[in-house]
Amino acid sequence: MPASWPHAEIVHVVGARPNFVKAAPVVAALARRGHAQRVVHTGQHYDDRMSAVFFRELGLPRPDVDLGVGSGSHGEQTAALLIGLEREFAARSPAFVIVYGDVNSTLAAALVAAKLHIPVAHVEAGLRSFDWTMPEEVNRRLTDQLSRLLFATSPEAVGHLANEGVDVDRVHFVGNPMIDTLLANLDRFDPAAVRAAHELPERYVAATLHRPANVDDPEVAARLVARLHEVADTVDIVMPVHPRGRAAFLAAGLDRHPRVRLLDPLGYIEFVALVRGAAAVVTDSGGVQEETTMLGVPCLTLRPNTERPITITHGTNQLITEAELPASVAKVLADGRRRAADPGASDTPPLWDGRAGERIAAIVSAELVGPDGAAAAPSGAAGS
Ligand code: UD1
Ligand code: UDP
Repeated sequence: MPASWPHAEIVHVVGARPNFVKAAPVVAALARRGHAQRVVHTGQHYDDRMSAVFFRELGLPRPDVDLGVGSGSHGEQTAALLIGLEREFAARSPAFVIVYGDVNSTLAAALVAAKLHIPVAHVEAGLRSFDWTMPEEVNRRLTDQLSRLLFATSPEAVGHLANEGVDVDRVHFVGNPMIDTLLANLDRFDPAAVRAAHELPERYVAATLHRPANVDDPEVAARLVARLHEVADTVDIVMPVHPRGRAAFLAAGLDRHPRVRLLDPLGYIEFVALVRGAAAVVTDSGGVQEETTMLGVPCLTLRPNTERPITITHGTNQLITEAELPASVAKVLADGRRRAADPGASDTPPLWDGRAGERIAAIVSAELVGPDGAAAAPSGAAGS
């Protein structure tokens, strides 16, 4: 067993772009409490623009180790993750493993930790799309089953976990660490600077798409490109292209329209500045649905469902089909933007106030210290 708190090590497992944005405030808050921490990068994402740029921009400590698992089929990637993470945890015996979101690195880390009897904390627990065709739905449901502490970002997530029989004592509604990062960096998101850097017009639609259902099938991607071209007949589109969809979109000729600008993936600060300055956003990203909600930018989500319904009820998000895209863009452009959300206001998602990282750190700390202040032996996952 590891040494007693505060020397017992907390391991954060991150691997993909959205993980970095969520982990930054949690790592910072635990550091303020003096905990020993280790950041394990699985290497699921590895391009500078998908990974290192976030560490540079967000004050996230450089990873202590990069397992370098890289890309592959789900089976290949998950197998590499399991092997690398098992070696890592067995060597270090962490007191707690903290995992983020719903990517393959998240589930693999939870599975390895549970088998080694290391307690797991899942940040962003309880989200449900109820769509089992999405790999993220599989990852998040199984991760929740394996976790000792479940940190929910919205009230309905707590309800989903209760419906699934998860012990309510393990579930904590803490707010949204991705929004902590957004609020902490608000002064840095400068739409004028991003417009100047990329020679963008005053009015544009920002797009980002990477879900398998939208980008993996060349026919689906080609239909989407035709609709995006229709939109571009009336307003410029700027799209930082996720590597997953790049080949399919280029093969379908997305760049063959004078008012479509394709960019490499942007760093976080530049990307959110692009979103902040946009007349509307077209996306299938989970995180971007939340960020547009806070920034008051209309968000059109090209998906049949969302695991983040609070972005519809309390935000700017709408689910649309590819056929609805041109008319939906025209409508939101005519309606105009909302004001940016005010943390704490009744129409803003509850607890999206910039303090989720601190709440998570307090709960993890208490778990390690124990109720009477004595260092607690780490308890197991579901059964303890
Ligand atoms: C992953 C997550 C998804 C998340 C997304 C965030 C899973 C199952 N999916 O999807 O939930 O929304 O990250 O961006 O975990 N590639 C590069 N460079 C990189 C990384 C990837 O070129 O740095 C390319 C490779 O061709 C790779 C493909 O992108 O095969 C997909 O990468 P992968 O991590 O498997 O899944 P994502 O689609 O990025
Ligand atoms: N993001 C970024 N650069 C980009 C596109 C997205 O920094 O070119 C940020 C975005 O602001 C959000 C996170 O990456 O914080 C979301 O990641 P992604 O859309 O890849 O994953 P998802 O949220 O869908 O899992």
